[in-house]
Amino acid sequence: MQRDFNAIALIALLETVRADAQAAILRPFEKQFPCSAIRLNGPGLLLMEDDPLPRSLAVAGGWGYIGRHFVDAAVALRIPVYVRDPGPIPTGIDQDRVRVIGTDEEFYGLPADFYHIGLHPRDRGAALGRLADRLLQGDHFMVLNEKPMAAPESPGECMELRRLVERAGMCMLFDFPELFDPMTLRVRAFLRSFNEVRIDEMRMTRSKDREDPANPRNYKIMVPIQHQETVHCLAWVFTCLAETRGGLDGVWDQGVSVEGVSAPYHPPNPQAYPHPVDGRFEGSVRFGNSVVRLLTDFTAKAPRSKRRTVHGVGDGNPFVIEAEYLEGHKFLAIDGKDIGFAQDANVYQAVIRQGWQWYRHPNLAEASLYLTPSFAHRSYLLSAMLWDACHLGGPRSVDSLEAFWNYTPGFTTS
Ligand SMILES: NC(=O)c1ccc[n+]([C@@H]2O[C@H](COP(=O)([O-])OP(=O)(O)OC[C@H]3O[C@@H](n4cnc5c(N)ncnc54)[C@H](O)[C@@H]3O)[C@@H](O)[C@H]2O)c1
Repeated sequence: MQRDFNAIALIALLETVRADAQAAILRPFEKQFPCSAIRLNGPGLLLMEDDPLPRSLAVAGGWGYIGRHFVDAAVALRIPVYVRDPGPIPTGIDQDRVRVIGTDEEFYGLPADFYHIGLHPRDRGAALGRLADRLLQGDHFMVLNEKPMAAPESPGECMELRRLVERAGMCMLFDFPELFDPMTLRVRAFLRSFNEVRIDEMRMTRSKDREDPANPRNYKIMVPIQHQETVHCLAWVFTCLAETRGGLDGVWDQGVSVEGVSAPYHPPNPQAYPHPVDGRFEGSVRFGNSVVRLLTDFTAKAPRSKRRTVHGVGDGNPFVIEAEYLEGHKFLAIDGKDIGFAQDANVYQAVIRQGWQWYRHPNLAEASLYLTPSFAHRSYLLSAMLWDACHLGGPRSVDSLEAFWNYTPGFTTS
């Protein structure tokens, strides 16, 4: 409201001055308005726009696996992209659309609306520190960070990051792509549509052959599968359960217990791994009366799948939600009826669009469901509990959210 009022006052002021003086007047105000709320459009004309997309995207690690997805998605959306990556520029990059930035200083000082930090946890600290400094000086932009929130062996970094984000007033969302997907928004709306709703069982499968030496992607280093991949399933589960329990904290109301077994990953480049990591996890998580059955499998010959099924009861009637998130095969069906989503919709474009909308129009009533550092920290801790259940002698449980926050992960590299 205050922002709109200021913008109207600014428009009135600008209307009284010559067009060539407007840009100079506008410049200091740009810091007060997130991104593109105000913009000069032709000589002398000012518009307040509700831009559906950011004006530009800055991707740290843009030549990496995930960074490249965002570079390509931004190019497809015709958003100018900046990339900072010390690696060689890959083939197929259109440098008219993608500007390669040579120094960190220039990159983290860009007037970009949207930063994507497509880096491994060990490389993120300096980048986020620079962005925090800018925000403290009054700049505005959003930051999309990657999972896992910290390396599995450094759980303390989660709280450090949360403190940094809070101190800087940073809008940081985490990249759990499926949660930005319109299919998930539809699932959430369905669950919200009941007066009384509960979920009895969820089945979550995420699998692909990540051991095949013929696939170059498989040479990228991965962390234990609980943190690498199961974490995506956990984030989706939190989102659905939160819709049925009056918010995210309600997910922990009846305690949480986990159990599971894992099998090692056999990478095509074992020399790059200082210690073995899990490549297959199968187990379950109980949130009170709701049970979640999980299978994440990156071992040889695992079929490609991102399948999930939800059984529940809404206002006394049983329902079934079935979804597949694998690009090219996507679908969402509720009680057997296909809702009609495109099979090949690109999820990274959805992340840019939806992330930008959440940044521009935050709905405080739903704040706990946005993919904030607190949300990512919960998914990190539950991934850690799953790893512990496999390696430290069996099931793990906590009886409250407070006990969950105090859970000490047992992951060790020895
Ligand atoms: N959200 C998802 O679905 C998803 C998918 C894949 C990976 N990830 C996560 O993204 C992170 C990166 O994974 P990846 O597989 O893309 O890794 P990657 O190794 O393919 O890419 C990392 C890139 O960062 C570059 N880089 C290294 N240091 C840098 C620095 N200081 N500044 C700028 N660039 C730098 C490297 O040259 C490389 O191109 C990991 O945490 C991973 O778990 C998330």
